[in-house]
Amino acid sequence: MPILIRGGTVVNHDHSRRADVLVDGEQIAAIGQSLPAPAGATVIDAGGCYVMPGGIDPHTHLDMPFMGTTTADDFESGTLAALSGGTTMVVDFCLPGPSQSMLAAYQDWRRKGEKATGDWGLHMAVTSWSKERFDEMETVVKTYGINTFKHFMAYKGALMVNDDEMYNSFARCANLGALPLVHAENGDVVARLQQAYLGRGVNGPEGHAYSRPPEVEGEATNRAIMLADMAGSQLYVVHTSCREAHEAIKRAREAGKRVYGEPLIQHLVLDEDEYRNTDWDYAARRVMSPPFRPKQHQDSLWAGLQSGSLQVVATDHCAFTTKQKQMGRGDFTKIPNGTGGLEDRLAVLWAAGVNTGRLTMEEFVGATSANIARILNVFPRKGAVAVDSDADIVVWDPAATKTITAAKQKSRIDYNVFEGFACRGLARATLNRGRIAMLDGDLRAKAGDGKYIERPAFPAVHVANATWKAQTSPKGVERAAVTP
Ligand code: URP
Ligand code: ZN
Ligand code: ZN
Repeated sequence: MPILIRGGTVVNHDHSRRADVLVDGEQIAAIGQSLPAPAGATVIDAGGCYVMPGGIDPHTHLDMPFMGTTTADDFESGTLAALSGGTTMVVDFCLPGPSQSMLAAYQDWRRKGEKATGDWGLHMAVTSWSKERFDEMETVVKTYGINTFKHFMAYKGALMVNDDEMYNSFARCANLGALPLVHAENGDVVARLQQAYLGRGVNGPEGHAYSRPPEVEGEATNRAIMLADMAGSQLYVVHTSCREAHEAIKRAREAGKRVYGEPLIQHLVLDEDEYRNTDWDYAARRVMSPPFRPKQHQDSLWAGLQSGSLQVVATDHCAFTTKQKQMGRGDFTKIPNGTGGLEDRLAVLWAAGVNTGRLTMEEFVGATSANIARILNVFPRKGAVAVDSDADIVVWDPAATKTITAAKQKSRIDYNVFEGFACRGLARATLNRGRIAMLDGDLRAKAGDGKYIERPAFPAVHVANATWKAQTSPKGVERAAVTP
């Protein structure tokens, strides 16, 4: 049945205009003034509302085994939370277990995702390097529609990779038309600082923040940028949380390097004071990596979004219950790292970004949807309210209000790091590929409604860093030799 969204203002990343939007099947069929409703059409009255591309959250961890436990939200509860807040697609991380092949891990994650209620995709993690990994990466890109590979520079002894592994993998990414992603924290230094603080008797959640200062993130971000440049690849830095990391990205972009940065909504509005709360549970629930920072770092992140040196706002939704967090009582290094946010990202960014005048509505669409769709090479199928784009739409009521509370959330965890945050501007309706997933608070999406979205490799010209020139030494060795 067609759906006519009538009387709203269409907001894309590059322009806004008053227009009706006609959805037919999974795509947008027409956009224009006073469109007639086809026979049998459902009409959504969007008077006073903005009609924007559904949010895309490129950083989630649903049903993920991590630090001795598994995240509480799976693909069903996580994507339901997303849809209720206006996010129509998530991109999750496929993490091969120790000695597991990427191909086997991919099959596991595809099974987990069968329950998704909204659209979803995957990034593949590179956690070791070998001829097998080298070969598998081609299948991952060409057969599985995954054009992004994640590298953890932290979590020593678990997911962390060293410079040799990263350099080789970055070069392979460039070679395959893929985009490397990094979690940029110096894991060796973090491990040392953790032991130093524990040795001095600092074992509470505040030790987590002390042992991961901005310098460990700044150093790793700079290093990853230089490695990517030497390997001839573009780079995407996830959860950029501090001035040092942002400045490294900004410098790289000014030098013509194709480097992207992703602040999280948590780091934009929450700061390190959260760890000073004397209630252990309260502070432990906020343990994530990188940790919340001293407040002045937020100004740098906002400036990055405003000026374009940072492009995307994500959540890193990695939700653990209070009971799971208690695994780290007496030793902060054992508190499962991660917080939630999928349901609240759009509303919190609108309140803290658009209502304050920091971001225009178009910049909001850029940061929550269009920019990442372009970075992930799925634009304009995703990230645009345009004819022939997937009908992933959020009807946004700028006058609607709510105060965030865990008591009313869809996520399975028993708290919310944004508890008490006052929002003005909320999703009134969410459409995913032409299906009404949520209308006026009524969540209609069902397990299995979500579709796995494949993303094609990037064209060679896009992949190579603008500053990088293939160089061959007199000995005939090419810079960025791709070694299996
Ligand atoms: O603390 C975090 N961020 N947990 C999820 C894993 C990661 O580092 O992204
Ligand atoms: Zn991370
Ligand atoms: Zn993450």
